[in-house]
Amino acid sequence: MLLGIVADLHANLEATQAILKKLDEIRPDRIICLGDLAGYNANPNEVIDLIRERDIACLMGNHDAAACGLEEPWFFNSHAQAAISWQAERLREDNRRWLRNLPPAIRLNGKFIGVHGALVSRDDYILDWLDAMRQMDALEESGVRICFFGHSHRASLFSEKGGVEITGQTITCQLHRNNRYFINPGSVGQPRDHDCRAAFGLFDTANLTFEFCRVEYDIEITAGKILACGLPAGLANRLAAGR
Ligand SMILES: [Fe+2]
Repeated sequence: MLLGIVADLHANLEATQAILKKLDEIRPDRIICLGDLAGYNANPNEVIDLIRERDIACLMGNHDAAACGLEEPWFFNSHAQAAISWQAERLREDNRRWLRNLPPAIRLNGKFIGVHGALVSRDDYILDWLDAMRQMDALEESGVRICFFGHSHRASLFSEKGGVEITGQTITCQLHRNNRYFINPGSVGQPRDHDCRAAFGLFDTANLTFEFCRVEYDIEITAGKILACGLPAGLANRLAAGR
């Protein structure tokens, strides 16, 4: 089975359309979304609609929880808070309900698990190999060897047998059956790994390969919408910087 994996779309319509167009060409058997459809950019309803239309299996990110009113964004920085407040006022009721009902994790074939930030908490970041290894007990408890995660907005792969970090390139990694992995496909809507292109991943479950993919999109349109909505200019500027 070929699995498309997307994360951290963050209401970026142009980036979401670009990766879905590419995925339409590739035609994976399934697509899963690791959360954070809301936050930061100007098109929350449009992005949620695209994911709902395609019936993509999705879990709840921390920005989704805040946008739909399940959690207070106390620990968000001021730019993130501004965007979440703006979006919470504009979310359609059906999309708010849909966000509220997203699960905290997705299990696939009893072999893989998808979470937002980390296994223990969706708010925890896995930024480096040590962070990943601190999740190893929880991975063993979950009974699987591969955990897909988002939240850091950095394309990364951490292997139990040696730290590997992949950043910002189209590259295919061969996984091994007797190893354990934490894999982040990177962010669709606000990459922070110094590559401004929208990111997604392709996992071939038979051959155990994971491909990191990047797609260009029109950042100027997305940034222009942020400014036109009166959201902080820093949210617009960071898109082109990829950080
Ligand atoms: Fe995020």
